[in-house]
Amino acid sequence: MNKVDYQWLDAGQAQQALPELCDVLDGCVAQGASIGFVERNAQAMHNFWQDVVLSLACGDKQLLVAKREGRIVGTVMLVLAMPANGVHRAEVIKLLVHPDARRGGIARQLMLQAEARAGEQGRSLLVLDTRSGDVAEPLYLSLGWQVAGQIPGYARSTAGVMDATTIMYKVIEHNGSMPAPGA
Ligand SMILES: CC(C)(COP(=O)(O)OP(=O)(O)OC[C@H]1O[C@@H](n2cnc3c(N)ncnc32)[C@H](O)[C@@H]1OP(=O)(O)O)[C@@H](O)C(=O)NCCC(=O)NCCS
Repeated sequence: MNKVDYQWLDAGQAQQALPELCDVLDGCVAQGASIGFVERNAQAMHNFWQDVVLSLACGDKQLLVAKREGRIVGTVMLVLAMPANGVHRAEVIKLLVHPDARRGGIARQLMLQAEARAGEQGRSLLVLDTRSGDVAEPLYLSLGWQVAGQIPGYARSTAGVMDATTIMYKVIEHNGSMPAPGA
């Protein structure tokens, strides 16, 4: 596979990259991924990333992308906006790799870099959820994530089936100072 570069995008960079971000999301939904969308709706996807841009601007989220030949082929986000009693925590969302770029270790690298970044931000507990049985589950397990449990009938699939979700967590070393409550 060609060289892949990893880059944290600020709000302005994400705004410029909206078409590429939509393309990755659309490619995943087209393949039936369980990532919040039940159909390929270009406007809804645009709106989703546009909201992300606002979250990047105010620091509620951080967005890491993987670029191959200058084009975004993968994403992962850290949700840092937490209630005052949870500022030691971050949620990992939207680990996405375009179908054309899969099985080359991009998702693993995105996760490793996201985990390291969360530690730098003083976060010591990471959480995520993933459709039970999806190929992402063994990836998370191999990275040391633990299964907290499953919730049946959690999300509707693109095929109209009610899928279970697996809630996972990982305790990490943090090397940044803990954010102040409300920060
Ligand atoms: C899950 C996803 C991000 C994996 O991306 P990827 O770049 O292909 O993954 P990697 O190449 O880094 O593979 C990492 C591990 O994931 C697992 N994996 C990924 N694809 C797999 C597949 N098709 N079959 C079995 N295991 C798979 C393997 O454990 C793999 O490790 P290995 O290569 O040592 O066997 C990608 O398939 C995707 O975008 N899916 C749709 C969106 C989604 O469901 N995201 C997860 C949301 S919680």
